[in-house]
Amino acid sequence: MKQKIIIGNWKNYLSHKESISLANSLLGLDTSDKTRVMVSPNHLYLNEVNQILSTTDIEVISQNLTSAESKSDTGGITAVNLKNISINRSLVAHSETRIREKTPQSILLEIIPMGFPFVLCFEEIDQIPFDILNDNLEIILAYEPVWAIGTGETASIDHINEIHSGVKSKLSKLGLNIPVLYGGSVNPSNCKEILDSDNVDGVLVGGASTKYDQFQEIVNSI
Ligand code: PGA
Repeated sequence: MKQKIIIGNWKNYLSHKESISLANSLLGLDTSDKTRVMVSPNHLYLNEVNQILSTTDIEVISQNLTSAESKSDTGGITAVNLKNISINRSLVAHSETRIREKTPQSILLEIIPMGFPFVLCFEEIDQIPFDILNDNLEIILAYEPVWAIGTGETASIDHINEIHSGVKSKLSKLGLNIPVLYGGSVNPSNCKEILDSDNVDGVLVGGASTKYDQFQEIVNSI
């Protein structure tokens, strides 16, 4: 089985104390070659969590960015500043940021040329700007149907397979080898069926990733 990617998106669920405590618990996470684990804390705690996890295989990534280079962008997050604190990947266009920020196309056109890797979230296949994706950047795609996010309602495996195979067939026609994750109410009870699918290269987990035991079960379900 190919290595699966597991991303924990902590959103803004956790306080400073809780984020640090979860990061310290993750020091004990038993990972194997079968998984590649990433977590995405609130921006305010990104640096501290990254430092705590620096001795592990867990990658700490940003939940969003608003610009590539330094510029007048009050309240924004730039790729350059993320790199300054050794954060080398960001979620882009999560549905919760899509409603208030730049189009995915415009931010991707800025960060792809600078070589900043990202996890691009989409709900409809036509939201994926296939023409500007490439294989040089370790891009990750994540199918996240909005109705499944934070609702406890997971997409059925048939639905996930249908969307993922559509995206994968488009990618393969373009000669691109980009992993496609699923996100939306993934939890310890449904993760195995989802991760067992050959069409699914991993999962993007929100709520359940903020509870160590649940996240551990998901990581160890493979
Ligand atoms: P959820 O969030 O697992 O809480 O549904 C998924 C996401 O928003 O990435």
